[in-house]
Amino acid sequence: MTSPQNKLKEITQIAERRGFFFPTAEIYGGKAGFYTYGHLGKAIKNKFEALWRKHFLEENCYEIEGNTILPEDVFKASGHLKSFTDPLTECKACHFRFRADQLIEDSLKIKAEGLSIEDLNKIIKENKLKCPKCGSQNLTEVKWFNMMFPLTLGAVGSKEIAYLSPETAQNPYLAFEREFEATRKKLPLGIAMIGKAYRNEISPRQLFFRLREFTQAELQVFFDPDDINKHEKWNLIKSYKLRLMPVSERKSKKVKELSCEDANKKLKLPKMYLYYMQKMHTFFLEVLQIPREKFYFYELSEEERAFYNKFHWDVYLELETLGGFKEVTGLHYRTDHDLGGHAKQSKKSLEVFWNDKKFIPHVIEVSFGVDRNVFAFLEIFYEKEKERTLFKFPAKLSPVEISIFPLVSKDKLPEKAQEVYKKINARYVAFYDDSGSIGRRYRRADEIGCPFAITIDYETLKDNTVTLRDRDSMKQIRVKIPELDNKFKAMEHSL
Ligand code: GAP
Repeated sequence: MTSPQNKLKEITQIAERRGFFFPTAEIYGGKAGFYTYGHLGKAIKNKFEALWRKHFLEENCYEIEGNTILPEDVFKASGHLKSFTDPLTECKACHFRFRADQLIEDSLKIKAEGLSIEDLNKIIKENKLKCPKCGSQNLTEVKWFNMMFPLTLGAVGSKEIAYLSPETAQNPYLAFEREFEATRKKLPLGIAMIGKAYRNEISPRQLFFRLREFTQAELQVFFDPDDINKHEKWNLIKSYKLRLMPVSERKSKKVKELSCEDANKKLKLPKMYLYYMQKMHTFFLEVLQIPREKFYFYELSEEERAFYNKFHWDVYLELETLGGFKEVTGLHYRTDHDLGGHAKQSKKSLEVFWNDKKFIPHVIEVSFGVDRNVFAFLEIFYEKEKERTLFKFPAKLSPVEISIFPLVSKDKLPEKAQEVYKKINARYVAFYDDSGSIGRRYRRADEIGCPFAITIDYETLKDNTVTLRDRDSMKQIRVKIPELDNKFKAMEHSL
């Protein structure tokens, strides 16, 4: 059995060597929190985003593209200027700066997110916690550190302050008035954005997990707060079983399996919110094919919730290389916090007229970090067998879907293989490889998670059949070239 540390090392080595991801500006030593997607990582990311759009952008949901630089007023209104902070402490001996809550969590193995400055200082002092770098106990008092990157617009000396946006969410709020008008003034209205977010994390670590520049896929659903306990598809989803870790079950660490209907009654979660919980559940389990036992929704307590949320449950996936279940995604009930804030700051009415009344819509937010999910796929689908390492990605997430090999590079086999490759590449993501032994080519294809490989051999020239190999079982069958399409569809990891 590979230890979690070795597994992380192996995944990282494959990721860097094969082109999934690697540190940005490596030739200058790299910078913590910045990664580049290589060609394979980018292919997975593109596929993830396409699946996300297909699953979440239902009726009256639209995608926009706003900006990553937004004026200071936006963040005054949203509350980020005041409250988007992490607790910072500094070692007086070596001047290493780090997060006080992480120091407590790492040293004492207790949750410290959401604690007050007073509590953090008290715990650090009482437990005589030390600098994780040099071991000194001489730490500064904890203070809040704002995680937004500021910048000035215009020429040197300009005082016009803006920020790199720490979430894509603010763009749909700023676009709401226009989009509501343009989409025939109907609620619920979903406005999505997939784009970059920036956070000046104090101590980014864990590879893709805590980045300073990352991609979010977020959907803001605007609705009438009087309709929160309704959803037109409720009857279709009410018996769907959710895996939940409510605050009340934290000590027992038992995941509760509740139908949406029971969660509505017992946990008082509104139907509109539960609809999106179910939607996220099916995305992870059915679309991405994450094993059920590696998934649950984790409820955040009042102290832990983001400052804008009334209900806040995160999706946790089991990532053994990072020490257990970790947050990859969130579902937030942001109320009218943001639109209300923008109405006040801009002095513009953002009220709508709907259901015979005027009001500011409330918002439920589906918030995905794309990079965290990409990392999760690599870790969850990675397997090490006696003779090979592979990613057992579902075909629809695989960066390469079909590899095509001529058995040898002579006797007209490459020409025939090229002919097959061109046909297949027009419909699927195919890769042509003619270097090295066939066994090595299979291993290379396995290592990047390619679900199918086709080999063109001497028989192909005679009877137009090829060998089709399945990645997971390594079983090989003979298939006539015109029947390949049907075979891809019929196999376990169908395309
Ligand atoms: N708009 C709401 C929002 O941004 P969040 O919980 O701060 O909420 C949402 O972030 C998601 O963005 C997280 O679940 C995570 O997947 C991703 N994320 C947040 N901070 C990140 C970071 N520093 N590096 C990578 N992903 C991050």
